[in-house]
Amino acid sequence: MATAPREQWSSRTGFVLAAIGSAVGLGNMWRFSYLTAENGGAAFVLLYIAMTALIGLPVMLAELAIGRGARRSPVQALVHFGGHAWKPLGALFVASGFLILSYYSVIAGWTLRYAVGALLQGFGGVATERFGEVATGWDAFAYHVVFMGMTVAIVASGVRRGIERAALILMPMLFVVVVGIALYASGLEGATDGYRYYLQTDFGRILSFDVLRDATGQAFFSLSLGMGAMLTFASYLSRDHHLPNESLMIGGADFAVAFVAGLMVFPLIFALGLSDAVGESTVGALFITLPTAFAGMGTAGQVVGLVFFLALMVGALTSAISLLEVVVAAAIDAFDWPRARSAVLMGALIALLGVPSAWSTDVLGVIDGVANNLLLIGGALALSVFVGWVMPDPMGEVSAGAEGVRWFFLWRALLRFVVPIVLGVILVLGLPETVASIAGLFATD
Ligand code: PHE
Repeated sequence: MATAPREQWSSRTGFVLAAIGSAVGLGNMWRFSYLTAENGGAAFVLLYIAMTALIGLPVMLAELAIGRGARRSPVQALVHFGGHAWKPLGALFVASGFLILSYYSVIAGWTLRYAVGALLQGFGGVATERFGEVATGWDAFAYHVVFMGMTVAIVASGVRRGIERAALILMPMLFVVVVGIALYASGLEGATDGYRYYLQTDFGRILSFDVLRDATGQAFFSLSLGMGAMLTFASYLSRDHHLPNESLMIGGADFAVAFVAGLMVFPLIFALGLSDAVGESTVGALFITLPTAFAGMGTAGQVVGLVFFLALMVGALTSAISLLEVVVAAAIDAFDWPRARSAVLMGALIALLGVPSAWSTDVLGVIDGVANNLLLIGGALALSVFVGWVMPDPMGEVSAGAEGVRWFFLWRALLRFVVPIVLGVILVLGLPETVASIAGLFATD
């Protein structure tokens, strides 16, 4: 295993597209709209943008530099540059991948269920009731298992054949559909209120700690950071890649999709009078709003809806692949198992772990909060300390292939001081609420 040459991306765009495939997914649509709705709109959006630029991009560059430099899976890469003391961080990454994929796959199952529904019966009925049926119980579980099966099949078939091809064909399609629905929404009466909610910042709310914490967690989740996914992808990179440029491309594409998703969802919520329904079940914001819109479009809505949910499911698939890849790569390295066996075994365990999320959207919401506000923020915090203070020559690693760049000292300074302090404060201040949310789960059950 150790002596085999490491597989590489077949082309420059192969890596960028697969990384975009990882970044763009349910985070940009489902999670971005749900958190924006929960945190009162534009203030959250502004903080999310700020955190993406100030914290997200430096951490992305850190993951790419570690992965490419070590050419190993996350756990081995940390040991390579930092010694055995850093193994626990690698274990945290694997645990995050495990936990996130367990509920991510449940939500992806919802999208698959809506796609099948579009095909069989269209989008009639009361959207909130329908969401309740789709999102919990045996149906939710069955579609979750189907989705995990697809993810396992792709990861088992290897890096190049599986991941690259899936990403290449299907991501542009999703973007086109979302832009189309956003344009449709812009013509509806009442859309303006949605734009106001989404884009007109109430500066009083920016000061709220909850909004800042959620915006930070969302920046990491959406960019697939803080759990070794980008690091793993970068481990298949050669040293002539320009990491800052590629980070910007990945971040830019990810942001563009989230932003347009908001331009689609919020005008629809207001034009269709769904504010109350969404307020009661923010986790369902996307899944209550879009089917209502599709129902109003008649037969055309059935087709557009089918394409939308299928494309979103595929977007989720390219993200899920990268989540499972972290877990599988670790299993391959640790136990010397073949790739296929690792993928099947790990996939089965993750599917089991998803059972509680498939039976309760409250549980799903709490796990989602814990994964982001604790695991991803914690993982990114440790990573920034690692690159800022421990890794022997981060400047040499990051600047290979990007020799002309002059601001890497700024990147290093951000990772040494700004990122750890900001994330440390958010982590510590957010801890009581995270603990309370977990306790609350057991109290109400
Ligand atoms: N970024 C993905 C999304 O937005 C989710 C993800 C998180 C993927 C962490 C990999 C790692 O849907």
